[in-house]
Amino acid sequence: MEKYLLEIDNVNKSFSGNKVLDNVSLRVKPGSIHALMGENGAGKSTLMKCLFGIYTQDEGRFHLEGKEINFTDPKHALENGVSMVHQELNQVLARTVTDNVWLGRYPRKGLFVDEQKMLEDTIGLFKRIGVEIDPTKKLEDLSVSQRQMVEIVKAVSYNAKVIVLDEPTSSLTENEVKKLFEIMRTLKKQGMGLIYISHKMEEIFDISDEVTILRDGHYIGSKDTKDLTMDTIINMMVGRDLENRFPVKKHKLGDTVLEVKNLTTLYEPKVQNVSFKLRRGEILGLSGLVGSLRTELLEAIFGARTVESGEIVLNGEIIKNSSTVEAIKHKFALIT
Ligand SMILES: Nc1ncnc2c1ncn2[C@@H]1O[C@H](COP(=O)(O)OP(=O)(O)OP(=O)(O)O)[C@@H](O)[C@H]1O
Ligand SMILES: [Mg+2]
Repeated sequence: MEKYLLEIDNVNKSFSGNKVLDNVSLRVKPGSIHALMGENGAGKSTLMKCLFGIYTQDEGRFHLEGKEINFTDPKHALENGVSMVHQELNQVLARTVTDNVWLGRYPRKGLFVDEQKMLEDTIGLFKRIGVEIDPTKKLEDLSVSQRQMVEIVKAVSYNAKVIVLDEPTSSLTENEVKKLFEIMRTLKKQGMGLIYISHKMEEIFDISDEVTILRDGHYIGSKDTKDLTMDTIINMMVGRDLENRFPVKKHKLGDTVLEVKNLTTLYEPKVQNVSFKLRRGEILGLSGLVGSLRTELLEAIFGARTVESGEIVLNGEIIKNSSTVEAIKHKFALIT
């Protein structure tokens, strides 16, 4: 019989009578990356939060290296070899990398914090995952990707056996994703089990050894990634074949309703020289990385941010939305 690092058996969980996990099981082998997939709301994060001691399951059992575990809180989980890197990183930005790793458990030398040991240990940890980050830097001076690596180092510092990564790549650039995957492979070689939550198919095939799929809180199945195709995964996730991943667009687009010309905002962070046209009946995608000021652009158009130069043309007429009230009068709406 195969020996598992982590066994999750028959977990049930309801929130105020609403069952969101129905008899879910998952088994992670040592030295492997296990992808957890399912549509939005399928219960992936909830299952992981039950494991990590954030929620308590109504029924079900967890075993780590054959021993039953039932963590009462995240600290309990961390100290016993289970770590979780959340999508919303909960870090102290004004403090250094070293402080963030050792917060609340500084090594001591007599009465004092052993700064030297702390620094050396941190450097050692980064070496172990093959990343170079200056441990004396403040977190606010690091990129999202580097901050994520600090979280991973923290997990490793607790001697994690299992690390859960909940949608870690949603705000990373392509190169940052490559780096993250390198780190994940390094940890896998060191015998850890990683649970990886992602909606990105290409990533699943690139990085995972096995996949477990949930649908509406139900356990659908676990398979070796090499035995799966994109279509089978989608089929398991949605419960039917999808003929078209993207429905065919049948309608015709009308005239230009809105034109934005060289829009630049006054205050930092400055939106600069943005132009686009929006036609009647059109859904226009606005894409860019975190920090590329997509939200700020929409706020500027909606009158919530001061425009320095550029034009907004509505149905052929130049207008000014210098306040949200004015924007609403011009029949704009912003759903945040
Ligand atoms: N604290 C909570 N209280 C009530 N309902 C919750 C709570 N947390 C999650 N849910 C519900 O449980 C279900 C599963 O949510 P969960 O966040 O686990 O899904 P998910 O698979 O992680 O989805 P996503 O891919 O969007 O992150 C959803 O219907 C959600 O609304
Ligand atoms: Mg989730």
